[in-house]
Amino acid sequence: MRSFCLLRTRYLLHQVFPGQSITTMQRKYSLNVCAQLLRTQGYIDGHWISAASTFPVVDPATGEEIAKVADCGPAEAKQAVDSAHKAFYTWKQYTAKERSVLLRKWFDLLTLHKEDLAKLITFECGKTMKESLAEIAYSSSFLEWFSEQARRVYGDIVQPNTRDRRILLLKQPVGVASVITPWNFPSAMITRKVGAALAAGCTVVVKPAEDTPLSALALAELAGQAGIPAGVFNVVPCSREKTPSVGEVLCTDPLVAMVSFTGSTATGKILLKQAADTVKKTSMELGGHAPFIVFDSADVDKAVAGAMASKFRNSGQTCVCSNRFLVQNGIHDHFVKKLGQAMDTELRLGHGSDPNTTQGPLINVRAAQKVENQITDAVSRGATVLRGGKRLDGSFVQPTLLVDVTTDMLCTQQETFGPLLPVIRFNTEEEALAIANASQMGLAGYFYSQDISQIWRVTEALEVGMVGVNEGIISTSEASFGGVKQSGLGREGSKYGIDEYLDVKYMCFGGLTH
Ligand code: SIN
Repeated sequence: MRSFCLLRTRYLLHQVFPGQSITTMQRKYSLNVCAQLLRTQGYIDGHWISAASTFPVVDPATGEEIAKVADCGPAEAKQAVDSAHKAFYTWKQYTAKERSVLLRKWFDLLTLHKEDLAKLITFECGKTMKESLAEIAYSSSFLEWFSEQARRVYGDIVQPNTRDRRILLLKQPVGVASVITPWNFPSAMITRKVGAALAAGCTVVVKPAEDTPLSALALAELAGQAGIPAGVFNVVPCSREKTPSVGEVLCTDPLVAMVSFTGSTATGKILLKQAADTVKKTSMELGGHAPFIVFDSADVDKAVAGAMASKFRNSGQTCVCSNRFLVQNGIHDHFVKKLGQAMDTELRLGHGSDPNTTQGPLINVRAAQKVENQITDAVSRGATVLRGGKRLDGSFVQPTLLVDVTTDMLCTQQETFGPLLPVIRFNTEEEALAIANASQMGLAGYFYSQDISQIWRVTEALEVGMVGVNEGIISTSEASFGGVKQSGLGREGSKYGIDEYLDVKYMCFGGLTH
């Protein structure tokens, strides 16, 4: 079986990287990072812990196993929750400045180790090194941002309703937060939540995605080095098989006060139901289905650059990636022609650690099959393939440009999470808005226009939580990240992100005499 897998891996490598010798590639693409950062055990109460079994982490580009990681189960999850709960009573007593200093040290360590941390991302999630380095910059920016925000948590003194009272509204940390994160940003989705939680005075248990535990464990190593006290930051890695039972502990244990999740809407609904029984606070960053609208007044070159960035970031695997391209009749052919040319010159498939690669693999074969299925469906309903159109063996998919796309096709109804760019032609602004808003999702939306009135009209009319106007990539720690409709609840980053981890306590100070 093992030798069959190896042969198949070699066959895949040969298909995707024609002209290179397999042995050269296997040597070239081996994970090589400082041993301290390649952690494979769980991290609970400041200690590295083993579990009864391990699970493999594989490089999605080659199918090669890169590590075996402790497969934590419900018992370890419970241990982590207890440890976080114990640590909460001391961590919340730290002054905001003390917490801020520790977060800043953690940020400095991420910056110091950015190359190795980026390699971990590339090897466990398939991203190019350029994108992995960008993710580490993005990830560390949340620690920096929340180290600053920690000291800016203010309550209120409110005008009282009677003369003998004073009214104060205090902000206090909610307690233990369960943090359940996805594979597409194995580092940044942790720090965006944990930075806010720790700044507020909460402690956390992180369950990283099954495919990408190594980045989370490297973060734990650096948290320890930064001096973050034992029990404040815990990580319980686990396999796909153990995920439901570990998730259940994290969403139902009475000692957990809050659940923060990034992932699919379907999983988010399950976690919300589990958390409901003990009435936990929740923050949910769920699926997207972003429209990208190009109006006749757009600057075509800028629109093409924005489309390329928005669609092909992480090979189309972000929840804010544009999923449906709506292009106005007058500009349609010009835009499509230039977009095709940009795809020809800018996109190169390969292993993420090859500096020439701009598009890595998808996370696994199932993800690639989903994209293939959407392409087949669209073509069977009349779409035309202008570029790509094929799934290669393994989890590589050719960047694909489809035109003559209509709203009855799967690719315009479901989130793709892959390098498929479907173009729908439209005539009027009303028509574009109707198509854009005809979705249960409402995370991000983008449009290109140089008409100032149209810019305000469309921004206000789009039913999404984030709008890019003449910009294809908008995520940043300073701005609020989050959606409306079934794209989720709550906001991350920005001055609002910390509120998810705080309760407001009303203090009525009575019986005062004059
Ligand atoms: C995500 O895809 O979940 C996050 C993307 C981002 O923060 O830009």
